[in-house]
Amino acid sequence: MGVGELAAGVAIGLAAAPLSLLAIRPLKKNKGGASVESRSTTSSVGGGATAYETGKAVDEYIQFHYGDPRDVLPYPDGPKSALGFPVRCALLCERFCEANKDFTGERGGTLALDVGCAVGGSTFELSRAFTDCLGIDYSNSFIAAAQEMKHTGFRDYDATVEGELTQHCVGSVPHDIDRSQVRFMQGDACNLPAELASFHAVLAANLLCRLPNPMQFLDRLPSLVCERT
Ligand SMILES: C[S@@+](CC[C@H](N)C(=O)[O-])C[C@H]1O[C@@H](n2cnc3c(N)ncnc32)[C@H](O)[C@@H]1O
Repeated sequence: MGVGELAAGVAIGLAAAPLSLLAIRPLKKNKGGASVESRSTTSSVGGGATAYETGKAVDEYIQFHYGDPRDVLPYPDGPKSALGFPVRCALLCERFCEANKDFTGERGGTLALDVGCAVGGSTFELSRAFTDCLGIDYSNSFIAAAQEMKHTGFRDYDATVEGELTQHCVGSVPHDIDRSQVRFMQGDACNLPAELASFHAVLAANLLCRLPNPMQFLDRLPSLVCERT
């Protein structure tokens, strides 16, 4: 599988190669005119930011990021290569980050930022390669769920089985991840705090197509990553 296929919908800014953009989804047309500009997010199902605040959305993303693969894809002939998306995103950052090639550790710790992190699955995975990881998302509900994953390591969720049938499941952070290396905060990709800087890698997976003005975020990317060392 080529990098392009692996990274569909992922934008990565790296300290070694700022603004390396890997296969970005085409942006949706603004059918609603100026009103879209007043929102800080759009969503694939409509509803803007509120689509990411519901309990159902939280449950779906907990399953997507932390669910047991047998719960996520219970069909024997299902597309198994689609599993593990948060893991694969983190691996892309690790693979292309020059700072990680300092095997002596002389350059110190490495910082990663996951913008539009949702409930934080990739943020935790980034901590396998980066010493400090920050996840930012616009959704208060997603960030609350991510904080819960940080503090307890697991979360109950209801998975849709068929129609209105649901099944009670548990999503968990892999046991070999040090959750103290990860933190989360609510924020807007189009208006990130000025003090955010010096990251060795910035992951923005499936985010650009959700932003009413993606250029606001893309213009900010160079000042988010550290100088090449
Ligand atoms: C399609 S989801 C992708 C989530 C995750 N990166 C993944 O790939 O599984 C888009 C995410 O972007 C977040 N988002 C949308 N607009 C945002 C904004 N302006 N700032 C930060 N996050 C935003 C949503 O809340 C949601 O979690």
